[in-house]
Amino acid sequence: MKLGIFQFAPIWGDKNTNLKKIEEKLSSQSNIDLWILPELCTTGYQFSSKDEIEELAEIFPLGESSKILLKLSSDIQSAIVIGVMERADDSFFNSAAVFDKGEFLGVYRKVHLFYEEKKWFSPGTETPPVFGINEVKVGVMICFDWIFPEMVRTLALQGAQIIAHPANLVLPYCQNAMITRSIENRVFTATGNRIGTEMIEGKQPLTFTGKSQVTDPCGKRLGNLSENEEDVLIVGINPEEALNKMITPYNDVLRDRHPSIYQL
Ligand code: ACM
Repeated sequence: MKLGIFQFAPIWGDKNTNLKKIEEKLSSQSNIDLWILPELCTTGYQFSSKDEIEELAEIFPLGESSKILLKLSSDIQSAIVIGVMERADDSFFNSAAVFDKGEFLGVYRKVHLFYEEKKWFSPGTETPPVFGINEVKVGVMICFDWIFPEMVRTLALQGAQIIAHPANLVLPYCQNAMITRSIENRVFTATGNRIGTEMIEGKQPLTFTGKSQVTDPCGKRLGNLSENEEDVLIVGINPEEALNKMITPYNDVLRDRHPSIYQL
C-alpha cells in the first residue's frame, strides 16, 4: 500500500486556491492508495470571529469542497483524508473528511480541541472511526488527539492498522510521541502536518512544525519531511504487519491489557 502526505502552508481563508493546489499536487503523483493532508487545510487555522467560521464552514458531503474532493478522489483513484471545517446544524467542527475513489466514507469530528479552537468549535462526541480502504482498516484522529493515548488505543482496538492523522502542530512533541503510539499499539501512523507561520491581526503568530512522517508498528520512522518546506512524502508499507500484536512471543500488546485495574 502506498501512502502519500502533502505538507504545505494553506492560504488563510482562500478555499479555492488551497483546493486547486491540492488537486494539482495529488494529480501529479500516480498509484497512491491513501493521501493524508493537514488539519483545516482548505481554510487555515486561526479565526477571529464567528462570522468567519460561518463563512468558511461547509456541510459534508454536500458542500462545494466535498464535490471537488469527491471528483479528485475519483480522478486519481485514491483515498483522501483531509482536515476541513464542518458545519452540522448549528454547530461547527474541526473535522477530517474521508473520500475513496469517488465515494464519501464519512467524517471524524475532532474530540480534543487545542487552544483557541475551543472558542469556535464543538468537540466531537463520537468514538473515532475506522474505515475500510482497499481492505485495510484506517483509523482517523486529528492533531492534538495525539496527547491522549486513549485515542490511538481506541482505534487499534477497533482493528485500525494505519492511523491517518491530519495535523497543524505547534508544540514540538508529537512527532516523537507518535513513535510510542506506534509501538504500544503496533500500528502504522501517518501524520500530515502543515508548515508556515500564520499571522492574524490581533493574535499571537503561530508557527507550524512540519516534519510530517510515517511510522511503522515497531516505531521506526519510514520517512519524514522537513520542518519548513512544502513537499510530498510517499511511503510504501505492508499493512499486514500491523495485524501482529506480539511484542515478544509471550506478549500481545492488546490482549495483555488489564482494563479492570486501570483508572479511566
Ligand atoms: C492542534 O491540535 N492543532 C495543535
